Amino acid sequence: MRLTSISTVVTGAGAGIGAAIARRYGSEGALVTVADIDREAAQTVCDEIIAAGGQALAVTMDVTDRDAVRTGLAQARDRFGRVEVMVNNAGISVSSGVFDTTEEQWMRHQRVNGFGVLIGMQEAAKMMIADGISGRIVNVTSISGIRNNADWVAYAASKASTSSLIHGGARALAGDGITVTGIAPGIVETPLWRGIHGTEQEHRERFARYAAEIPLGRISVAEDLTGAAVFLASPDAAYMTGQIITVDGGITA
Ligand SMILES: NC(=O)c1ccc[n+]([C@@H]2O[C@H](COP(=O)([O-])OP(=O)(O)OC[C@H]3O[C@@H](n4cnc5c(N)ncnc54)[C@H](O)[C@@H]3O)[C@@H](O)[C@H]2O)c1
Repeated sequence: MRLTSISTVVTGAGAGIGAAIARRYGSEGALVTVADIDREAAQTVCDEIIAAGGQALAVTMDVTDRDAVRTGLAQARDRFGRVEVMVNNAGISVSSGVFDTTEEQWMRHQRVNGFGVLIGMQEAAKMMIADGISGRIVNVTSISGIRNNADWVAYAASKASTSSLIHGGARALAGDGITVTGIAPGIVETPLWRGIHGTEQEHRERFARYAAEIPLGRISVAEDLTGAAVFLASPDAAYMTGQIITVDGGITA
């Protein structure tokens, strides 16, 4: 129980990595606001946390809609009294190369993975400052934000925005006692990959090839990211800001 009574908001928590972080936070004693654009998915994860003995609230939140982010944060504060940890995890991903990346793909990735994270940081920080909370902001970026990739041009550029906001946000908010850190996953088996590699069999074959290239020999699962997420929300990370923890099985080693 490393997060007892810490009030947390996790975006994109209806599936994949966000859902795993929300469940783990719940099992560590945190008060968890499960935020997602997909209300039903958020409610399902919220119900699972409560069924496991935790405390949770589901809110509908499109991270690109400032009013929705403000409303979701206000609901979290109404329910749990404060917001101490904001995990900006919601993100989208579509494969696109240098020549076939469209303007629509480029703008959509920047809007969700860049601007959505900026809004989450701004609105959470404003609330923390108003409430006198020395809070934590944790942004989920990607190893693609460090090194672009021929097949993921728009996505990787948007994740470079996410990573850049971790560095800028850390410097901007340090004076208010708010830390900004990040987690950079490698390849994680989540619904994000649905349909990207064609049929289920093609997907399995592609993932087997990826796994063979990963030093630790396997694709990660969402739960592999939750240890870093707990650490960054815990008192143990109080003196860390502007840093990104890479959890990629050694891909970038
Ligand atoms: N899966 C991977 O291999 C991988 C690797 C590196 C980084 N990441 C990053 O991790 C984060 C989570 O990825 P995932 O694999 O769990 O994705 P996922 O697609 O499995 O789940 C994403 C969740 O975010 C929600 N969401 C999408 N757009 C939203 C919006 N505008 N507002 C609020 N919620 C929204 C979806 O409804 C879904 O519940 C993303 O930022 C992603 O870029 C994933």
